[in-house]
Amino acid sequence: MPSRSRRPSSPVPFGDDILPVVVDRQAALAVEKIEILREIRSGEVASLDNELGENSPNFVPVTTMIGLGVRKALTSQEVAAIHAGMDRYAVLVFHNQDIDDEQQLAFTRSLGEIELALHTGLRAANEYRLPTTFADVSNLDQHNRPMARDDRRRLFSIGNRLWHSDSSFKAVPAKYSLLHARSVPSKGGNTEFADMRAAWDALDDETKAQCEGLVCEHSQIYSRQQIGFFDLTDEERERFKPVRQVLVRTHPVTGRKSLYLASHAGAIVGWPIPEARAFLRDLIEHATQRQFVHSHKWAVGDLVMWDNRQTMHRGRPFPAEEPRDVRRTTLAGDGPTVAQAAAA
Ligand code: OGA
Ligand code: MN
Repeated sequence: MPSRSRRPSSPVPFGDDILPVVVDRQAALAVEKIEILREIRSGEVASLDNELGENSPNFVPVTTMIGLGVRKALTSQEVAAIHAGMDRYAVLVFHNQDIDDEQQLAFTRSLGEIELALHTGLRAANEYRLPTTFADVSNLDQHNRPMARDDRRRLFSIGNRLWHSDSSFKAVPAKYSLLHARSVPSKGGNTEFADMRAAWDALDDETKAQCEGLVCEHSQIYSRQQIGFFDLTDEERERFKPVRQVLVRTHPVTGRKSLYLASHAGAIVGWPIPEARAFLRDLIEHATQRQFVHSHKWAVGDLVMWDNRQTMHRGRPFPAEEPRDVRRTTLAGDGPTVAQAAAA
């Protein structure tokens, strides 16, 4: 295949206009960052396009490094380049990021406001391993030990193995998630991403018309029901009350539409529940066909960033007794996708 055809049909976002200009001669680190951004522009994009095939959706995870970029404060041009990359690709992969919690927080904050992981899981206040600026997606307890197979906190977090979009169960759902791998199991534990823009584009007109204007109710109660986890206290049920989300979202920058789905969606306003669930299940089945999916195999130091407004993701199983320390920072969304129901 001629290399020309590997290029995405629309221009890659890393044009000269947004490449940082070297003005600071003594900043060796800055020069390295710029080289790396050039690499994003010229090399990796093409090869991944090729790997995913010519008919792949406009969903091209860029496997690249910004190395020092994550550790050092970003320039405004670099911030713009990353947002442009996210607008275009929806998932970005940064390998070999040897960063600690503070550096991950600083990198995340340079891109926007952090969403706190408060009241979202089953850990008690004294069971947190990480500060609430992180979502602890690991399988570890507060002593850094893998949780027992039947630990209810672990069983609840197995909900992450269902296709979802982060915090769609909050009235203001998440924008980006940034997941960093500190330790990985010997096998399994991939994270898969599905492009919900491509899924929307591939729907027939009749189904598109049926979806437009629909409002769903999302709750962690619904996603856990699907894996047979009903063991919630009254307090947890109150905390996990459903919120409303539109089913079709339009990206504020690109104008592209995407299906906004998640296993948390368990009802459609105005529809009988069984019909709504069957419809949502069909949509998820459609949206997660292999041609819309990228599977990320983790290495220690990988930082993967995804746009929850345009993708769904799920974790894959791995040996329960092995530690998998992955830490997520999350960027807050701009606001609710739809007015919430008045409190009863
Ligand atoms: C997450 C998530 C899946 C995984 O970090 O939000 O769902 O593979 N992760 O850990
Ligand atoms: Mn998630």
